[in-house]
Amino acid sequence: MGDQNGAMTERIGVIGAGYVGLVTGVCLASQGFQVTLRDIDATKVAALNDGQVPIYEPGLAEVMAEHSSRLTYTLSLERMLERSDIVFIAVDTPPTYSGDADLSRVMGVVEELQRVGADSRHILVMKSTVPVGTGERVRAELDARGLEQVGYCSNPEFLKEGAAIADFLHPDRVVIGSFDEADGDRVASLYAGLGAPIIRTTVPSAEMVKYASNAFLATKISFINEIANVCEEVGADVDVVAHGMGLDSRIGRSFLRAGIGYGGSCFPKDVSALKQLAGNSGYHFQLLTSVIEVNELQKRRVIGKLKKHLGSLEGKRVALLGLAFKPETDDMREASSLVLAARLIAEGAAVTAYDPIVNGTFDRLVGVELRGSVEDAVEDADAAVLVTEWKAIVESDWPAVHDRMRTPVLIDGRNALDPLQMTALGFVFEGIGRIPQHIGVTR
Ligand SMILES: NC(=O)c1ccc[n+]([C@@H]2O[C@H](COP(=O)([O-])OP(=O)(O)OC[C@H]3O[C@@H](n4cnc5c(N)ncnc54)[C@H](O)[C@@H]3O)[C@@H](O)[C@H]2O)c1
Repeated sequence: MGDQNGAMTERIGVIGAGYVGLVTGVCLASQGFQVTLRDIDATKVAALNDGQVPIYEPGLAEVMAEHSSRLTYTLSLERMLERSDIVFIAVDTPPTYSGDADLSRVMGVVEELQRVGADSRHILVMKSTVPVGTGERVRAELDARGLEQVGYCSNPEFLKEGAAIADFLHPDRVVIGSFDEADGDRVASLYAGLGAPIIRTTVPSAEMVKYASNAFLATKISFINEIANVCEEVGADVDVVAHGMGLDSRIGRSFLRAGIGYGGSCFPKDVSALKQLAGNSGYHFQLLTSVIEVNELQKRRVIGKLKKHLGSLEGKRVALLGLAFKPETDDMREASSLVLAARLIAEGAAVTAYDPIVNGTFDRLVGVELRGSVEDAVEDADAAVLVTEWKAIVESDWPAVHDRMRTPVLIDGRNALDPLQMTALGFVFEGIGRIPQHIGVTR
């Protein structure tokens, strides 16, 4: 929506300046909107006010700098409310012990709104991933607190860390669930410039699109991981199998790469939250129960592969190449490396690691010795495991890596390396469901 001079008239507020909130704010600023981001983390707000980007996300710093005149960062909810009409909620919704989503931060925002924004006429837009029924619960809370005039829409976010800017600005779809059509229209107008399909629906359906999408992608990953495990038993190559399957337009190639399981801040918690949501509503979601179990076991399969080649891991030195849950991010939430490192240490192994971005400040890597390069990490190692397929790691000087290791056992946990090439270099090499083969895949 623009005024006569073409300036955007809706003023945007964002609560929570994390991976999603910051990208949302910065991208909407790039679309011409005035954006005020509020976070409760004083260090983060100070860094943002200093022009620093508190997370690693390619391209974010550049877009942020280019549109800095339209971006304001504050600790004050009042200030953010004064400066905005439409307010995105992008706070974290981590898992609880029961596997449900923890909505305390979301409900905390509603509570705070009543305290400081009693005369608010804003539209709240839920970007955080929340279980179906949350919108109705928030609506009821707003009404009960005398905030009937505050609008509410669900607008789940589908961006991927590492490609967040492009995903936000060129989404496959925008989903908007609303209680009131006019509120939905105003939220839809924010995305008009992106030219993406906009799906308008009810709040519960919008909430479910997000969970169902993540659960389906996780299912695809666990499916191909099980196919890979069977491939190992029967002498087939999962890479060729996935390629052959993926060319079927009903199936598609994406998310059919076998490996050591999914991690990250979304899939594990969202799959678990959907399973719990179903359970709480009286339905046992059997398929998702298996998807979760397969993923947990997949992370541990590497230990079996290492033992096959090294025997007991007691006193052995294992190098983890890559730590982040995927390349191009510094996010360590639910990273497979954490499970692997903990298992290796429990088995009595010494663990070294290298990641291009994740550094020693990450406190859950207790007992892991971080090194400054792949070659330093593998020095005197009995085995190395490629955990995160960072380009810089995949393109390592593998002959040099080979020479630095005590025994050249290399496990490719992401199927990012060519088994033939690695075997030719002298590595004792294993991927996940792969066989070194001469009959190439015609692509
Ligand atoms: N990270 C992703 O790739 C991704 C993608 C799609 C959806 N999501 C969903 O988006 C939501 C946010 O995820 P994230 O990865 O950006 O989380 P995050 O932890 O990076 O960021 C959350 C931010 O909210 C702030 N916060 C918490 N309570 C607050 C309050 N009351 N007021 C202001 N700020 C507050 C925190 O300080 C933090 O900076 C989650 O529900 C997540 O599931 C994440």
